[in-house]
Amino acid sequence: MASTGQKEESKKFMSKKGHMSTYSFSQKDAPLFENFLAYTKKGIAAFHTPGHRGGRGCEQLFRRWGGRFLRLDLTELKGANLEQDPDFLQTQAEELAAEAFGAQKSYFLVNGASIGVMAACLALREAGQEILVARNCHLSVVNGLILSGLKPVFLPPTWIAGLPCLPSTAVVQDYLRRYPRAVGLFLTNPGYHGIYGPLAEIAALCKAQHLPLLLDEAHGGYLRYIDPCIAEASSVGADLWVWGVHKMMGSLTQTGMLHIGPDFPYPAQLEEALQLLSSTSPSYLLLASLDSTRRQLYFKGRKMFRRAAKLGSILREQVKELPGLELIEPVVLPAGYGLDPTKIILSLAPAGWSGLAAETVLRRRYRIQPEYADRDYLYFFISYAQEKREIFRLAKALQSLAGTAESAWEESAVCPPPWNNRPLAQTPRSAVDQPSVYLNLADATGRVAAGLVAAYPPGIPLWVPGEEITPSMVEWITAFQQQGGYVRGLKNGQVKVSSA
Ligand SMILES: Cc1ncc(COP(=O)(O)O)c(C=O)c1O
Repeated sequence: MASTGQKEESKKFMSKKGHMSTYSFSQKDAPLFENFLAYTKKGIAAFHTPGHRGGRGCEQLFRRWGGRFLRLDLTELKGANLEQDPDFLQTQAEELAAEAFGAQKSYFLVNGASIGVMAACLALREAGQEILVARNCHLSVVNGLILSGLKPVFLPPTWIAGLPCLPSTAVVQDYLRRYPRAVGLFLTNPGYHGIYGPLAEIAALCKAQHLPLLLDEAHGGYLRYIDPCIAEASSVGADLWVWGVHKMMGSLTQTGMLHIGPDFPYPAQLEEALQLLSSTSPSYLLLASLDSTRRQLYFKGRKMFRRAAKLGSILREQVKELPGLELIEPVVLPAGYGLDPTKIILSLAPAGWSGLAAETVLRRRYRIQPEYADRDYLYFFISYAQEKREIFRLAKALQSLAGTAESAWEESAVCPPPWNNRPLAQTPRSAVDQPSVYLNLADATGRVAAGLVAAYPPGIPLWVPGEEITPSMVEWITAFQQQGGYVRGLKNGQVKVSSA
């Protein structure tokens, strides 16, 4: 059966002479997605993994919820690909993505942006060498540092309204001068909260020093559709950048892309790293979702994200005058920084709510779930697929909360997270390699961390392996937990420290 199907695919995807490479796809095609869909419609009897047989074998409740979708849960199969070159369709789909998004080469990721970030660190690996990393990085960067053995030199972020954002140009300039042998500069832009910074100036500094610029753009990639003047990795000529496409760009959860520019110096090492970290059974459903999303963004991205921005501005208008509510507005940002209009950050502190307490009430009483909350703020991510009435529903709920002071919340002194500015005692890799022990949080002060600890979201580590734990860090986590925040890296209230 597979070979009959294969002939049909061959006709579709090969030239008359039978050379696959002579067939060229355009942005109107979604080769991986379409061929995969065609395959699933053929009624082929399956004698391969996965064993649930298109959902027939799933538990009844799961099957009922999954429906036809479960038929798409497949991995690499000859019939769903080309017999002569199993990677052909994926490569074609990735080439279309590179063309659409201004990259030299793009890779589809099916284990989140995290795997792209870790592969980037591995590609630069020269154990013990220094890499410049913005301190507001996601924990996947630290995991990449553990895997690669690189030695991070952390750059302090710019603090805006208590939120850590892209380091300033002056800070980057200073670190480039002090660490001329660094193997790269790894920055997060925009941050989880949607604030972006002076990327073009920073990219120019890196170019002048021939230093690879790597960007975690997990929360970006679509700003170009809102305003083409906003600097993004591709427009400033970054060397490598990672997208969490699943976050707000519309593909299925866990999908991402990794892009490289023409001058990325380690393309072969990067491919090896991706292979090292990737599953040998990637979900074709997830890959197809990326292919389809690329086509959608190419043709409709502007319309989609201008709609999201418009909905964001409607929400702002609805709540900005409320006396019990403080909205972070783009006008409060320093020069060079801007706010993604689809991200709404607000505080109900004037009405007596901590962010975490307000989130609970929004969920329980109003059935509204923000992206996340912390001590101070609530964060709402507005999607292009949001319904307008949901915006009004949220505005109404916020109006009620802003007018009722149910919780007597008082600001505590411990804010923002008290990062340690001293150099690491050890590299993250050597710290996790050494003998370690779990200690109660209260007893960890003064010890060298052997694991990382991060408030999640946003997943920015409070400390990383190899860093000395200070009393103010312990105090910060304790207060954060007491307010209902979730901390990653704690095991039954204990943290991992070096016992060497
Ligand atoms: C800035 C940043 N980078 C990377 C990641 C990892 O993304 P993923 O969850 O897709 O692996 C996240 C996740 O929240 C993030 O916020």
